[in-house]
Amino acid sequence: MPLYKTINYNSTTQILVWEITESLEELLGNVVLKEKTQLRLNAMKSEMHRRAFLSVRLLLQEVGYTDFELHYDQFGKPYFNDGKHVSITHSHHFSAIIISDETVGIDIEMQREKIIRIADKFVNKIELNRLRRFDAEDYIKKLTVKWGAKEAIFKIRNEKGISFKDHIQVNSFEIGDQKTTAILEFENIKQVFSIYFEEFEKFTLVYAFEN
Ligand SMILES: CC(C)(COP(=O)(O)OP(=O)(O)OC[C@H]1O[C@@H](n2cnc3c(N)ncnc32)[C@H](O)[C@@H]1OP(=O)(O)O)[C@@H](O)C(=O)NCCC(=O)NCCS
Repeated sequence: MPLYKTINYNSTTQILVWEITESLEELLGNVVLKEKTQLRLNAMKSEMHRRAFLSVRLLLQEVGYTDFELHYDQFGKPYFNDGKHVSITHSHHFSAIIISDETVGIDIEMQREKIIRIADKFVNKIELNRLRRFDAEDYIKKLTVKWGAKEAIFKIRNEKGISFKDHIQVNSFEIGDQKTTAILEFENIKQVFSIYFEEFEKFTLVYAFEN
């Protein structure tokens, strides 16, 4: 049951990462699920997806919540009824949650070469021009941060019509900075977000706060 990492960002914000090494049976034996969740689990085709979904319930238990307190709105955005904000992500054998008094979003992405081929689908010309592309590894890492940041922001402001490329711009950063800012401009509203990121085992964890 490995809790892989805990980040105490501040007194009201915690990030928890789980490394999913457990079997489905092992995970099932350690959580109690409400009926709605059990039905969702049953409908999942991939065993990895089920394990990831269950591991999130274990992360919740780490911070004193249970599946009974976690709800979803009509768009799939998770929430609690106690005023705390929550965001969830899973990717391959990692899952993570962020819980905060502030409005937050989180994303984990695996660093993959394939991201180079789809870069122009989610970064705009200004962002692309600022990225130095001669170091392929650095380029992949930066694109992964940008993708994760945009996903995290999307999870905060999940509105129909938001385009990663046209409406969200992630400002310049170096991988060593572990933070940057991003701007969402959508329907005449401009919002600034603080972005934090870190890497482990070829994965990039990104979380965003609305400023
Ligand atoms: C909803 C979305 C943000 C999920 O992200 P993902 O990287 O596919 O998957 P993750 O594992 O990181 O996140 C999944 C979790 O996000 C949360 N989530 C789902 N829909 C959400 C929404 N509308 N708002 C906020 N959070 C949401 C859920 O908690 C979900 O996990 P759970 O259902 O097991 O609890 C994503 O699928 C999406 O729609 N992105 C926008 C698409 C887009 O514009 N792409 C641009 C292509 S260029």
